Amino acid sequence: MGAPRAELTGKVAIVTGAARGIGYAIASRFAAEGAHVALSDIDVDGAGSAAESIVNQGGNAIGVGGDAGVAADVDRLIQTTLDRFARVDILVNNAGDVTTLRHFLDSDQDWWDRLVRTNLTSHYLCTRGVAGLMAAAGGGCVINVSSGGANRSHRGMVAYDATKGAIEAMTRSLALDLAPYGIRVNALVPGLIATNPAHLAPPARTLRDETVPLGRGGTPEDLAGPAVFLASDDAAYVTGACLVVDGGVLVQQRSPQVEVFGLDKFPRIPGSRFS
Ligand SMILES: NC(=O)c1ccc[n+]([C@@H]2O[C@H](COP(=O)([O-])OP(=O)(O)OC[C@H]3O[C@@H](n4cnc5c(N)ncnc54)[C@H](O)[C@@H]3O)[C@@H](O)[C@H]2O)c1
Repeated sequence: MGAPRAELTGKVAIVTGAARGIGYAIASRFAAEGAHVALSDIDVDGAGSAAESIVNQGGNAIGVGGDAGVAADVDRLIQTTLDRFARVDILVNNAGDVTTLRHFLDSDQDWWDRLVRTNLTSHYLCTRGVAGLMAAAGGGCVINVSSGGANRSHRGMVAYDATKGAIEAMTRSLALDLAPYGIRVNALVPGLIATNPAHLAPPARTLRDETVPLGRGGTPEDLAGPAVFLASDDAAYVTGACLVVDGGVLVQQRSPQVEVFGLDKFPRIPGSRFS
């Protein structure tokens, strides 16, 4: 067996929404795998300090403030990346608003437009901005970030779920349009990832985590390995796919609280958690 490979050596990646959470975990892992990374975020200071923290760990990174849903900011992000790293091989469309919950009957068009711009138009603008460059370079890779909400709905998140459904449709359409140029387009579908303390208080979070078939809530780092896989040559024949990273949540019909076939009925296997 040879030495472990750095999967992304010399590749240049842009990750949006990378000041914290899933975006930061992916950017940080990409840098550890040898990529040069531009971390973009609407939180200007956050983008700078996230990049600084990667540099302090020996990675090559820059922070670029800006709104991924605003064309001028996206143009600046791409130009800054080119000025520093000369090319773009990988784009991770991660920026998203996961916190603005509103019941549909209390909603207004500002809310709808903001979520569509942040979660969906951002994917369009960033992909449009890099796809021509990737095509001219012979190929590249785009990773969109969807949600379980694309297929199973959240309360108070009509706009969010609509954008995530659109992201999965867009992933497939982009994959078709861009495959002839050697550009692969896939999506990650995270589930129940503990990134935002405002999401759920600890007792509810424990209950929620118990509903995950793999037995725990997710962490941002759980998305990093799957992102490296999709960006790497190991995924050279993978495009148009939505890779679910949720510990089994989406495949589960009943939550444990209403399960008729409880864990107490599972076979006892010495050495397993059911010994
Ligand atoms: N956490 C989860 O359980 C979960 C589940 C499914 C999908 N996701 C998706 O994963 C992605 C990241 O989520 P997270 O949990 O890490 O969120 P987070 O709130 O921890 O981080 C999101 C980051 O995006 C930035 N951001 C927001 N709007 C932006 C904009 N317009 N332009 C640039 N940056 C912007 C924020 O400042 C923040 O740094 C989102 O697309 C989200 O929908 C998260």
